[in-house]
Amino acid sequence: MSDVFFVGCGPGDPELITVKAKKLIQKADVIVYSGSLIPEPILKLCKKGKLHDASGLVREEIFDILFKNAKKDKLVVRLHDGDPSIYGAIKEQIDNLKEKGISSQVVPGVTAFLASAAALESQLTLPGVTQTIIVTRAESRTKVPKREKISELAKHRATLIFYLSVHLLSDIVKEAVEGGYKKSTPVAVVYRASWKDQKIVKGTLKDITKKVRDEKITRTAIVIISEVIDSTTYEFSKLYDKKFSHGYRKSKVK
Ligand SMILES: C[S@@+](CC[C@H](N)C(=O)[O-])C[C@H]1O[C@@H](n2cnc3c(N)ncnc32)[C@H](O)[C@@H]1O
Repeated sequence: MSDVFFVGCGPGDPELITVKAKKLIQKADVIVYSGSLIPEPILKLCKKGKLHDASGLVREEIFDILFKNAKKDKLVVRLHDGDPSIYGAIKEQIDNLKEKGISSQVVPGVTAFLASAAALESQLTLPGVTQTIIVTRAESRTKVPKREKISELAKHRATLIFYLSVHLLSDIVKEAVEGGYKKSTPVAVVYRASWKDQKIVKGTLKDITKKVRDEKITRTAIVIISEVIDSTTYEFSKLYDKKFSHGYRKSKVK
């Protein structure tokens, strides 16, 4: 019996894949992949394996493919966009496999919010602005615990990042303002970060909903609410300050 590999393949740009993920895809006998968010060039790396598109399958069918092939000692890859641990539904499959005596290995990938930060050339934590990143989603069919309501998270006025939520942007904005962000707080929406058709829409809590609606973005986007976006009022890092000493360098000020 072989292990099953849960592999992240990054946000879209086929070069944003780890060496480990690439090798596994090239060697795989069977790949179950997460539909349209897996770029074609990455699927083409799979030379000999059988590909299954998970978008048309239910949990039991996916499990069956993973289990039967791992039992036959095949190299089985469950390929996820971004990183498998972020909204990836891997735990139910890992637990199910474990119950049947099959181990799993997880290979991380570049998640969409990091590709979005890169597209924005942003630093998500800035001294003097915020030192915290909150990653969440707006509630829709999947419930979000009450204590994680957007208006509660907004109280921190940290960098607040949403997956799976751009279609609920007007609700996000309303709750973010209720929670404590000023209407002038910058917001960026990155659609298909790192893909060739990537779009960036920037605004504030006051005008972002209209701007995103005008661009007709309703899916596959990351929403970032934060004063770090295009900030001009941050402090410089301590680490590279010439007056600052640390384990690898003494202060350069006499
Ligand atoms: C089911 S989640 C999977 C997230 C994925 N595991 C990851 O780590 O990026 C799908 C959501 O991720 C976000 N997403 C995935 N790829 C994206 C990309 N290239 N650009 C912007 N958002 C993306 C969108 O919010 C989308 O609705």
